[in-house]
Amino acid sequence: MSKFQAPKGVSEYFPPLSSRFEFVRNHLAASAQTAGYQLIELPVFEDTELFKRGVGESTDVVSKEMYTFEDRGGRSITLRPEGTAGVMRSVIEHNLDKGQLPVKLWYSGQFFRAERPQAGRYRQFYQVGIEAIGANDPQIDAEVISVAWRGFKAIGLKNFRLDITSLGDGASRAAHRVDLLRFFDTLDLDEATRARAALNPLRLFDDKRPEIQTAMSKAPRLLDYLSEESAAHFAKVQSLLTSFGIPFVVNPLMVRGLDYYTGTTFEFVHEGLGAQSGIGGGGRYDGLMAQLGGSDLSGIGFGIGVDRVVLAAEAEGLFVDDESARTGVDLFLIALGEDSKDEVAVLVNSLRDAGISSDMAYGDRALKGAMKAADKSGARYSLVVGENELSSGEATLKDMSSGEEQAIRIGDLSSTVSSLLSSEKKRN
Ligand code: HAM
Repeated sequence: MSKFQAPKGVSEYFPPLSSRFEFVRNHLAASAQTAGYQLIELPVFEDTELFKRGVGESTDVVSKEMYTFEDRGGRSITLRPEGTAGVMRSVIEHNLDKGQLPVKLWYSGQFFRAERPQAGRYRQFYQVGIEAIGANDPQIDAEVISVAWRGFKAIGLKNFRLDITSLGDGASRAAHRVDLLRFFDTLDLDEATRARAALNPLRLFDDKRPEIQTAMSKAPRLLDYLSEESAAHFAKVQSLLTSFGIPFVVNPLMVRGLDYYTGTTFEFVHEGLGAQSGIGGGGRYDGLMAQLGGSDLSGIGFGIGVDRVVLAAEAEGLFVDDESARTGVDLFLIALGEDSKDEVAVLVNSLRDAGISSDMAYGDRALKGAMKAADKSGARYSLVVGENELSSGEATLKDMSSGEEQAIRIGDLSSTVSSLLSSEKKRN
């Protein structure tokens, strides 16, 4: 019979390498939690209109990449292509902004974009993201950037850089728009490009066609049009980042792929990833909440591509030892003979009750096969328990990395293993 395959372009993580994914995601989440962000868990599908209105119809994400379908009730549903719009929807719907501000939230999970799959670009991918809603201080901009930075550093990444720019406030963008549209009039643009520019003229800075890129290199830059207030805000963000010891490059040509951005925007770019080098990005979205029917609160956040960070960490050789590293349980038990299997199962169960991670050999395996299973499991210690051990109450505990053995009392198993593990922890 033919076998099933995963749909095209999805990333999957399975043992043993799923530990890399777990490592990356946990470090990113821990960095958010350290800065006071609280978990928000959201649906992976939403009303299609939310993304059209929130992310913007001029974007590739909305115009070409959404997984949209009609549900059984005839509603238009879209698999979330990004996290910010859904967070805003939930904050508005559940009045989360009516308490203490800013509301600081983190999330992680799958996102969906119908892109052409390639290394680092998937149709289902993972992000860890944060959003801080209801504060317009440059200090919080610096905080959001620092949370990503600290996460990357905790993972051990080195070869990445931070690009920042500012899209200014409404006044800045309006002034820039006038000159930009005037500049477009001097170019010979096709109909589709003009239509795109009409929706969001900044999109053309992100156009990948070489002739457009050449033309746009001479276009007026938004950074030169910042209002006094926006310029002061952006200068403060930069000086704070410097005080935090976070190096950055001001990149006036950066264009984020989503329409809601205002003010400070940023991207983390990794040097070891080729074309899909963006490991994370974000920025301010000061009009978004009002646009989605909520109060007019500002916000800023980021999304980090967990898949790409895993690839970046692999490219930097951060996982060289992990396949041989111990990822298994603390104690692996082997029942010698059919009669001791029940007793071993009870022992494993009580070890787990005591908080000691443990497992046992299942199936009808001879001792040799069971020892192999213990070895493969990556367990720290193993213990063989047969009829003799059960009647004497003594067994031999084996240290799986050094091969050392010691006699222990089965009745004291969990306390003996606990104290061995805690003295090991102290030594490390
Ligand atoms: P974004 O730049 O579209 O921003 O995505 C954030 C990150 O997700 C990217 O830097 C990249 O690492 C990863 N990513 C995006 N698309 C793919 C893909 N097809 N395959 C693999 N990884 C991908 C946002 O999504 C915003 N919601 C971030 C944000 C939050 N801005 C403010 N708050």
